[in-house]
Amino acid sequence: MAKTLGFGVLGAGLVAPFHAKSIVASEGGRLVAFCDLNAERVQAMASDYGVTAYDDLGAMLADPAIDVINVALPNHLHFDAIMQCAEAGKHVITEKPPAMSLAETDAMVEACASRGLKFGCTVQCRVRAAIQAMRKAIADGRFGKLLHADAFMKWFRPVDYYHMDAWRSLRKAGAGVTVQHAFHYIDLLQYLVGPAARVQARMTNLVHPDVALEDTLLAFVDFECGAQGVVEASTALWPGTDVRIEVNGTKGTAIMTGEKMATWTFEDDQPEDEAIRRLGDESQATAAGGAADFGFADHQVVVEDFIEAVNTDRDVIIPVASVRPTLEMVLAMYQSAAKGTSVDLPIIDDPSIW
Ligand SMILES: NC(=O)c1ccc[n+]([C@@H]2O[C@H](COP(=O)([O-])OP(=O)(O)OC[C@H]3O[C@@H](n4cnc5c(N)ncnc54)[C@H](O)[C@@H]3O)[C@@H](O)[C@H]2O)c1
Repeated sequence: MAKTLGFGVLGAGLVAPFHAKSIVASEGGRLVAFCDLNAERVQAMASDYGVTAYDDLGAMLADPAIDVINVALPNHLHFDAIMQCAEAGKHVITEKPPAMSLAETDAMVEACASRGLKFGCTVQCRVRAAIQAMRKAIADGRFGKLLHADAFMKWFRPVDYYHMDAWRSLRKAGAGVTVQHAFHYIDLLQYLVGPAARVQARMTNLVHPDVALEDTLLAFVDFECGAQGVVEASTALWPGTDVRIEVNGTKGTAIMTGEKMATWTFEDDQPEDEAIRRLGDESQATAAGGAADFGFADHQVVVEDFIEAVNTDRDVIIPVASVRPTLEMVLAMYQSAAKGTSVDLPIIDDPSIW
């Protein structure tokens, strides 16, 4: 019989409730505890869910009722915490980006793999039905030769967002729009048509002059498959509109807006295409105008898959290893913006970008 897995959520901030709700709603998962250095925050969240509050990761890792840790800490703190979780023999689901460098990511993947631990990442937009349909159509060759793959994330965050917590305005904490917000959509391009071969990026700060971060990214990408694309991502564009992911080939075009399939047109029209055109009609909010303005359904798919993967000892739906090429694209964009030139992949880490 499948084992019920105990979960501990590390970090009781903005994204923690999305993990908590997914675990509570899941089949086979039990929320056991939250852990946060901020005692008031963690007490409040733990009491909302009727679970244990820890203010120290070591104490949470010693809890035998916990099998999986969901890491929901600021980006620059993922690495140390995940290494500690692996040493304690806990499976890990980390928030994006998995870490701040390729070397850290490789070390974490190795630390989990060598102990037989599952290691997943919540780049949860991958599980959207429209994205899965695009990925299948690409695998089936329905686009013909892939020509373009583009991501447009025209969002808005007021300046208060950057001052909610100290790390949100720190470049070295991974707070810029490229690594913090656009990561999901750069990941979708990588997931659909990657890996990338070359990037050229320009980063600017359009409307948040008191934070030393880029609030806007413009990038060109050449993919190894021969397609080219652009990424336009911003938190400066009031009031914020839904993300668009576009794929064009010689024989087809697909466009997802938010999570809705806005365009699905192929030379070889198939009977199932009518249903695909309606995907996402019951559309949810997708964080265009506010940091917590989205649902937890996608996180829940990741959590439920993770439970099944542990119980059947198969790989998880989004292993961190599959997100490494996305982090590499993102790091290459920072290198490109810093140098003012295009950057070829693979790259080596350059800590001076932070
Ligand atoms: N997948 C998504 O859609 C999504 C959405 C939002 C945020 N995120 C990611 O989730 C992560 C957390 O973001 P957030 O917005 O919840 O941040 P947050 O600042 O709201 O929450 C982070 C929490 O971690 C706590 N913390 C810091 N250091 C700690 C430590 N050493 N031990 C225990 N607790 C500690 C802080 O006190 C804070 O409560 C980031 O990696 C972010 O990129 C993902």
